Amino acid sequence: MTIFRGTVLDTPGDEVVGTVRLRAQPDAALLVEGGMVTARGAFADVVGGLPSGGHHEVVDLREGLVLPGLVDAHVHYPQVRVLGALGMPLLQWLEECALPEEARLESVDYARGVAAEFVHGLVAAGTTTALVFGSHFAGAVDAFFEAAARAGVRVAAGLVASDRALPRALLTTPDRYYEESLHLARRWHRTGLARYAVTPRFSYSASDALLAACSSVLTDVDGALFTSHVNESNAEVAAVAALFRTADNYVDTYDRHGLVGPHTVLAHNVHTTTPELTLLSARGSAVAHCPSSNAALGSGLFPLRRHVEHGVRVALGSDVGAGTGFSLFKEALQAYLTQRLLGTEGLPLTAPDLLHLATRSGAEALGLGDEVGDLSVGKQFDAVWVRPRRGDPLDVGLRHAASAEDALGRALTLTTPADLGGVWVGGQQVSIVCPSPRASPTTHLARHQRHSHPHDRLE
Ligand code: GUN
Ligand code: ZN
Repeated sequence: MTIFRGTVLDTPGDEVVGTVRLRAQPDAALLVEGGMVTARGAFADVVGGLPSGGHHEVVDLREGLVLPGLVDAHVHYPQVRVLGALGMPLLQWLEECALPEEARLESVDYARGVAAEFVHGLVAAGTTTALVFGSHFAGAVDAFFEAAARAGVRVAAGLVASDRALPRALLTTPDRYYEESLHLARRWHRTGLARYAVTPRFSYSASDALLAACSSVLTDVDGALFTSHVNESNAEVAAVAALFRTADNYVDTYDRHGLVGPHTVLAHNVHTTTPELTLLSARGSAVAHCPSSNAALGSGLFPLRRHVEHGVRVALGSDVGAGTGFSLFKEALQAYLTQRLLGTEGLPLTAPDLLHLATRSGAEALGLGDEVGDLSVGKQFDAVWVRPRRGDPLDVGLRHAASAEDALGRALTLTTPADLGGVWVGGQQVSIVCPSPRASPTTHLARHQRHSHPHDRLE
């Protein structure tokens, strides 16, 4: 058994975003056995309650803050090498930037390199769970699941499906998609920390026949998730409306195939309508809000208040590579800034709201609310240790914070991957080692490490 000692901040309550309360425990101890938190309390109390003579190890994380592992509800594995392309709207960015790169993953060797870089990006940013858009190529999806299993991160991912409107090399057929998906799901679904996700790219590039095949996979793979894009940019919404003339709206293009339910996470939903919000709420589906991506592509300002008022669950997605990086700290800050820019239409967000969005909301969206998302007894020890370098603005800020909530606000504003001292999934420290290695950032923790591996045109 291991005791993790530190200042623990999390948001275990069931409040909706806008009203979230922070649980803050200075000098807390989390007793972890078999990957799970089995006791939690003041350090002295937890240690005092242990049977005498038993062996336990103490991991001292008192400098800085211990937070639940971050949950990324929308991120694309094949796009890590195209991060940072600025100046394009969605459809142009896809055509000129994302899709040519995604075509390169036909080579499994290439895909393996990308998968290693992608998983490193997740872990180094403190992301312990992610709903990942895979590749259009089954071999590349295999390579991704292998890399995720090697690193020891929680993922849901799958084969990306399209049968029109993209470069020919990225297209499939309904039958082929079904067969390859079932094959991948048999190999990976519910093995270790992995689950299968049904992922048509967006209804713009998926015919009704392909969406029907997606529905069959969802039915035949028990416990699979469904994820796709919706209502991201005005041009995309108009193109989808022109293709699906009998659909009520964009969400309906998925819903009429039975793809919208409690297992569903739809990314973006910027240009949404009241009937769509009502439907998403009735179905218990979640929306992955990707604020950096929405800003970088100029897609629009996310109507969070309307989602919350309709009872639609919202989580956060980095949307790498249209987004601006892997960090959900940055994404949470961008979510806050976006609501500020919306003025009276925006939803004012507090630091606890933002932590909830980056942790517990994501866990719930991915159907993992009973396992991860906070650091209560009975949850897995998925955690990130924010430990700034001495003298850095974050260090200064934490030392001068007036309260735990104030400290959290500063952490959400200022934390970068360089400020993370360690990341754990299921009690195992995952190594933050770059595929092209530099010095290990977690020297003093290494002693405690039990596991070190821990088309045509679009427009
Ligand atoms: N819509 C369809 N594909 C994509 C993608 O790769 N990124 C984003 N942001 N939107 C999409
Ligand atoms: Zn996306």
